[in-house]
Amino acid sequence: MKITLISFVFLICAAQTIRSQEAGYLSDKHRPQFHFSPKKFWMNDPNGLIYHNGTYHLFFQHFPEKTVWGPMHWGHATSTDLLKWTEQPIALYPDKLGWIFSGSAVMDFDNTTGFGKNGKPPMIAIFTHHNDSLEKLKGNNHQYQSLAFSNDEGKTWTKYARNPVLKNPGIADFRDPKVMWYDAGKMWIMTLATKDRITFYASADLKNWKKQSEFGQAFGAHGGVWECPDLFQLPYGKGSKWVLLVSINPGGPNGGSVTQYFTGDFDGKTFKPTDTITRWMDYGPDNYAGVTFSNTGSRHILLGWMSNWQYANQVPTTEWRSAMTIPRELSLVNINQKAILVQKPVMEINRLQDPGKAIAVNAGVTELDLNSGLPGPSGLYRLSFDTEASTTVSVTLSNSKNQQVVIGFDPTRKEFFIDRTTSGAKGFSNEFFKRSVAPRISNAPKLRLDLIIDHASVELFADDGTTVMTAIFFPDEVFSKVMLQSPRMKTVTNVQIANLRSPWKAGD
Ligand code: FRU
Repeated sequence: MKITLISFVFLICAAQTIRSQEAGYLSDKHRPQFHFSPKKFWMNDPNGLIYHNGTYHLFFQHFPEKTVWGPMHWGHATSTDLLKWTEQPIALYPDKLGWIFSGSAVMDFDNTTGFGKNGKPPMIAIFTHHNDSLEKLKGNNHQYQSLAFSNDEGKTWTKYARNPVLKNPGIADFRDPKVMWYDAGKMWIMTLATKDRITFYASADLKNWKKQSEFGQAFGAHGGVWECPDLFQLPYGKGSKWVLLVSINPGGPNGGSVTQYFTGDFDGKTFKPTDTITRWMDYGPDNYAGVTFSNTGSRHILLGWMSNWQYANQVPTTEWRSAMTIPRELSLVNINQKAILVQKPVMEINRLQDPGKAIAVNAGVTELDLNSGLPGPSGLYRLSFDTEASTTVSVTLSNSKNQQVVIGFDPTRKEFFIDRTTSGAKGFSNEFFKRSVAPRISNAPKLRLDLIIDHASVELFADDGTTVMTAIFFPDEVFSKVMLQSPRMKTVTNVQIANLRSPWKAGD
């Protein structure tokens, strides 16, 4: 290959941009290190999550002019390990049909759309066009579904000339298509949020869609509008079950935006729920619009937006706003004859985990200093321990400014909690500085807590991912102290803590 002077200069500039981006990430006290956040400006929902040829693609709701929500684009980032993301040029810009709202992406291996080129399957994005001018006319027809395709593995995109492919039938909230290939019926299925229910559509070519059925008007939680659904099948016992995720805003058990799920059967036409229970995927205040990657074989990997519409536009970051959750692997377990969704951090995170240390527990104390022996202050930790379901226990993250976040378990109420009441400078929101709770779902006599802490977030995977809570925080100084408290320290065992490395550190 001949490297011209111009391309040489371009390569040097590109390398420098990446280096200065890394330097900025390391010194920004609220910048998550191993959670994706946009370089600059606003981000909300993950979109078009797809794995292809060794690369994970994360598209996202993005307004590349301000740090508040506005005319939506699809931003783009790629990763080979789900943790170190490299931001790419914007994938989809608003056009005359509207802004680009949430949606999904699939590989069209059989070229059902005819968009493939030179024998290579196209990558297809299916998204909602949101027409702001039509919305103002209040005709209930301003959201409709459209396609775009890429013949270079997601780098550049062409919108389909005959968009939209699914017109609005007169429903104001008609959005967030999640499309999958339903092999048993050899057809594409679109799961669409339609105000207070889900509508399923089927298609042979992604261009012509036929309504199959509706689900949910009389099921689940309805404290807010239904958004960002997902439908997938997971192994369960000797067979399998379908899981339907539905985000709702507002109406969460701890206020604001949250994701509920249903388990049941799907036959290509209708979704039949197993029961009428309302299940919450993550009880914390900050996991919204989560959906799974497509084309990952038997792995089901979920990524959520780590914020809440109650305060997303006000959180105190300056150049950028919002991050995604840690990617989580999903499975189902049977607890009391109910199928319960389990989330575990993807095993790729082990690569970022320093050897860490096991903490010797002195049964005679009520407080243990967990991180004083670790190199630090890192503010990035993975920490886990076992105890008994009858033990009161908490972990306190704190700094020298008397700011703290407390994560723990209250056995009298059988509740986990995250308390961020005094987690940082107040004033940006009345909703933020609160204590959130989650019921314990497992009934095992042993209790296990696994915590993943980045500069500005904690994710609690309790009882091996059966009860999950995610919360963000914005301390004025990194939480450099980690203490474990319990009046029954003798029941606390297997205490482990490790620093997590920032993937932006030189040499990674
Ligand atoms: C969910 C959501 C989606 C919509 C997008 C707009 O957070 O409201 O329903 O497509 O955000 O940015």
